[in-house]
Amino acid sequence: MTRAFPQALHIVAGWDQAADLASDLVCATVRRKPGAVLGFATGRTATEIFPALIRKARLGRADFTQVRCFNLDEYIGLPPSHPNAYSNEMQRGLYDPMGLNPAQVFLFDGMASNPGHEAERCERALAAAGGIDLQLAGLGENGHIGFNEPGSPGDSRTRVVSLSATSRTANRRYFPAPGAVPARAITMGIGTILDARQIVMVALGAHKAAAVARMFNDPVGPATPATFLRGHGNVTIVLDHLAASALPESVLAAGQEPGA
Ligand code: GLP
Repeated sequence: MTRAFPQALHIVAGWDQAADLASDLVCATVRRKPGAVLGFATGRTATEIFPALIRKARLGRADFTQVRCFNLDEYIGLPPSHPNAYSNEMQRGLYDPMGLNPAQVFLFDGMASNPGHEAERCERALAAAGGIDLQLAGLGENGHIGFNEPGSPGDSRTRVVSLSATSRTANRRYFPAPGAVPARAITMGIGTILDARQIVMVALGAHKAAAVARMFNDPVGPATPATFLRGHGNVTIVLDHLAASALPESVLAAGQEPGA
């Protein structure tokens, strides 16, 4: 049966299973298209997936020597050497262990003197690369994707954004001090993300349950940016039981994995 949204839904037992599944999807894309363009989110969810991806790359499940990778977002004001800079996180957590060379990777410079131009540089690089084949996305507790906070239009492109209080609070746990969370970021826009040929959204944990339910139930619109995924046409959603716990039975029944 073809689903209206999402086109595939997997409700798995836990984080390891989610990482296994998401990394399998990335490998499948790269096997199909060795020069695939991959979009990667950062944050806790994504960094749980990366070790599985690195393991599979080392096992030869896919050859990543020709892929190109794009980061979804970046804090403004953090140098690339800062431990909380997404570029640093990606370099340490994925790109270095995978042995990718700098030419394969697009990273935002959070210290760019003109962040607006930095955002446009990303759009140009995406266009030159032929667009994203697979975008791995996480979900913010307020329904954001990337750093597209509530209020973000569906046709928004890569740009400078102010972070909401909710997002700054949610990300406070990654920083040494509350005041250290930057107030602004560069993010691919909703329209930029929707241009990806496939989107894999992974949301795990009870703290994501409300946002997951809203992604399915809220009217499609800027109030809940993740609802825009419902208009895409090739979205795979990977949830654990906790993140799926506020979904109606009808949705749950369709996504249950055997043994989960
Ligand atoms: C963060 C990042 C996103 C990420 C999402 C979920 O703030 N801007 O790229 O996908 O929100 O993050 P986490 O997996 O840490 O919950």
